[in-house]
Amino acid sequence: MNIIFLGPPGAGKGTQAQRICDALGIPQISTGDILRKAIKDATPTGLKAKAYVEAGKLVPDDVLIDIIKDRLAMEDCKKGYILDGFPRTVPQAEALEGIAKIDCVVELEVDDENLIRRLSGRRVCLNCGATYHVSMLGDRTTCEKCGETLIQRKDDAPETVLNRLNVYHEQTAPLIKFYESRKLLKKFDGMQGMEEVYQSIMDTLGALA
Ligand code: AP5
Repeated sequence: MNIIFLGPPGAGKGTQAQRICDALGIPQISTGDILRKAIKDATPTGLKAKAYVEAGKLVPDDVLIDIIKDRLAMEDCKKGYILDGFPRTVPQAEALEGIAKIDCVVELEVDDENLIRRLSGRRVCLNCGATYHVSMLGDRTTCEKCGETLIQRKDDAPETVLNRLNVYHEQTAPLIKFYESRKLLKKFDGMQGMEEVYQSIMDTLGALA
């Protein structure tokens, strides 16, 4: 099954996508992770994307569409995938229609107050992409999956978070209507606990399979 995860920054897309991909044995394609790795490795794409990502702005559509075209052509995508963070604009969604057939769009709904709380306490592993919240880490400063030191993302700084939320409401939220009109959208209450969100998504995907 080819699935899109849609929702504002901090809605839990990455957290849920990682767990559901593990359960279904399909790859998680996170454009944020791909861009952060490219920036870390200083590749030509990374150099182009750095200023946009760090300011909380969207990287130009053509860069993202090329990344997704190349990634979806890989062998591991033949059995399905979760797109986490793509598409984020109507032109990206239109381009995707020429590349792939999407079976379901999972929308996670969380209000802005909760998003700000989640992002300000998020810690991430740049090595394996695992995500944590300070409230569950205690004294731990390293990733429990790979042992790498956890960091706070530069774009989780308070002023950048507000910018990302504005960008989401202006440029990405129109995709809700776009996918509603194609009868692909399934809405989930992302303010429930992680386990409840996971179960509701898995139940829905199970019914569609
Ligand atoms: P990206 O990495 O995709 O960031 P994002 O969409 O802003 O999403 P986040 O990773 O911030 O949040 P999430 O929904 O995955 O939440 P998470 O699971 O981590 O993109 C970064 C940047 O790259 C963009 O700003 C842009 O510049 C660029 N970019 C990427 N894709 C692009 C595209 N297509 N076009 C153009 N530019 C692009 O959870 C957040 C926190 O909440 C964690 O601490 C977690 O533990 C906690 N949490 C999760 N679920 C729950 C729950 N149910 N209850 C309580 N806490 C929870």
